[in-house]
Amino acid sequence: MATMITLPRSHFFMILSLIVLLPSACRCANPDPLQDLCVANLNASISVNGFPCKPLSEVKSDDFFFDGLRKEGNTTNVFGSKVTSAFVIDFPGLNTLGISMNRVDLAPGGINPPHSHPRASQIGVIIKGKVLVGFVTTANVFYSKVLKAGDVFVIPRGLVHFELNVGKGKALFLPAFNSQLPGIEILATTLFASTPPIPNDVLTKGFLIDAKDISDIRSKLGS
Ligand code: GLV
Ligand code: MN
Repeated sequence: MATMITLPRSHFFMILSLIVLLPSACRCANPDPLQDLCVANLNASISVNGFPCKPLSEVKSDDFFFDGLRKEGNTTNVFGSKVTSAFVIDFPGLNTLGISMNRVDLAPGGINPPHSHPRASQIGVIIKGKVLVGFVTTANVFYSKVLKAGDVFVIPRGLVHFELNVGKGKALFLPAFNSQLPGIEILATTLFASTPPIPNDVLTKGFLIDAKDISDIRSKLGS
């Protein structure tokens, strides 16, 4: 026979508010700021989750300005792409704000290779060119779209994704993230160019390839 548990009214409301508030408290990629601004002191000797704040008396307008995305990236490399970051480590004014962005330049046929951001979702707009963007879910479903200037595509947090230039000319893509430091794991370099290297046995068995394939990939990656 089922037993009914009766809770005092105050406990009932406390549990109800926890149920309502907890998921929303955990939904954000970074914690909320506790003050207007906290420009990162990247050289502080103490280590915290994020970076300690520079003294307010030393904060200048330039701390909230970054011109590092102005210049076209050099795409002469194996992937034909260049990602330039405006993360907190490049742009200390982002500290505690839970946002950042990149500039992705793609040569014709170039790819920003399959990668993931462990700490952020990504939303990006195409500024120039024609780009195939896609991601794969944990259920192994592939979603993709060919984007043109002005089009926007979102990548849910942590999922493997890429951008491939499928147009005739250069392409420019500007992604933004809901984290000051999204993190990036590029599958090819994570698996084949780590330090120290992953043992060959793991790679041959894990990817059903032979040792020659591994050395070919490593030499193409320059590792
Ligand atoms: C694009 O996907 C990027 O992470 O810059
Ligand atoms: Mn990305």
